[in-house]
Amino acid sequence: MGGKVTVVGAGFYGSTTALRLAEYDIFDTVVLTDIVEGKPEGLALDMNQSRSIEGFETKIIGATTTAEGAGYEATANSDVVVITAGLPRKPGMSRMDLIGVNAGIVRGVAENIAKHSPNAVIIVVSNPLDEMTSLAQIATGFPKNRVMGQAGMLDTARFTNFVAEKLAVKVGVVKTLTLGSHGDTMVPVPSRCTVNGQALSELLSASEIDELVDRTRNGGAEVVALLKTGSAYYAPSAAAARMAKAVIEDSGAIMPVCAWVDGEYGISGVYLGVEAEIGRNGVNKVVESALTDSEVVALKAAAEAVRAKQADVQTL
Ligand code: NAI
Ligand code: 2OP
Repeated sequence: MGGKVTVVGAGFYGSTTALRLAEYDIFDTVVLTDIVEGKPEGLALDMNQSRSIEGFETKIIGATTTAEGAGYEATANSDVVVITAGLPRKPGMSRMDLIGVNAGIVRGVAENIAKHSPNAVIIVVSNPLDEMTSLAQIATGFPKNRVMGQAGMLDTARFTNFVAEKLAVKVGVVKTLTLGSHGDTMVPVPSRCTVNGQALSELLSASEIDELVDRTRNGGAEVVALLKTGSAYYAPSAAAARMAKAVIEDSGAIMPVCAWVDGEYGISGVYLGVEAEIGRNGVNKVVESALTDSEVVALKAAAEAVRAKQADVQTL
């Protein structure tokens, strides 16, 4: 395969993502950066020393960067860039509480990345996700299809896990879907959920499904409350890594991601969680699927909530 992927931010999310990407053994190089001096280099050294045990050849390069742009040469000409830089939330905080500080971080990172990797596909992870994705597109000036955010893959995976546990079945036979925002207006889509091909509504009562939907919507907060410091990263990193893999392999996989919506579902001009076909150019196209009337109403409400906040970030 080949190619170069950069992961910005060597915290819990970034370092786990970098290792997952390296273990796929499909990239020549994974670059991991952070502003904490020595942290990305140290993590890269450690990860490289796992290569002979895990059996992968991808080289991991750690690089300390500054907010002003020093050190970004190491990221030059990346094919894919995953932006995880920013603060995670603490118990009781919403993702939106991070908007001010993370906007400054994401804007600076996006500008530096654009300078050194003008042809990259960007996958944004930093929270609040939908707003930071929009901001990264503005700051890079990249075409909208080359900037997307990771949320739906994670939220869908959480929903799938909860359904599988509830019904005591393998996760592999469960299909679920979440759309909308990575926040209060997340739209889990029960009408698209099946178990061994059978509709979820034939297996669980409406109130049982509602409970799983609520748990999915609060999936991130549930982990934060248990960890007490920091947020989830194993499932989140798996989600972002799969998106980067789909890009470099030009797989055409259809995934729930935060993508620019331009007319689909009667919604335009906003980054929102939808299903999209992912390939070498990022989002090849948004894939519209059959939803119930109430699900479309919820998706439109999510779009309006996100649109208002995305307008705010332009000035942050
Ligand atoms: P963390 O605190 O472990 O790591 C963040 C890292 O970013 C730190 O090492 C920090 O030094 C670094 N950083 C800060 N400014 C930087 C800059 N200008 N350039 C490079 N690195 C910089 O946090 P964690 O757990 O890794 O989470 C990262 C972000 O991902 C948070 O905003 C969190 O809310 C978000 N997140 C998003 C999810 C999603 O589904 N979209 C899921 C989980 C977390
Ligand atoms: C999560 O959903 C906090 O966005 C992060 O785990």
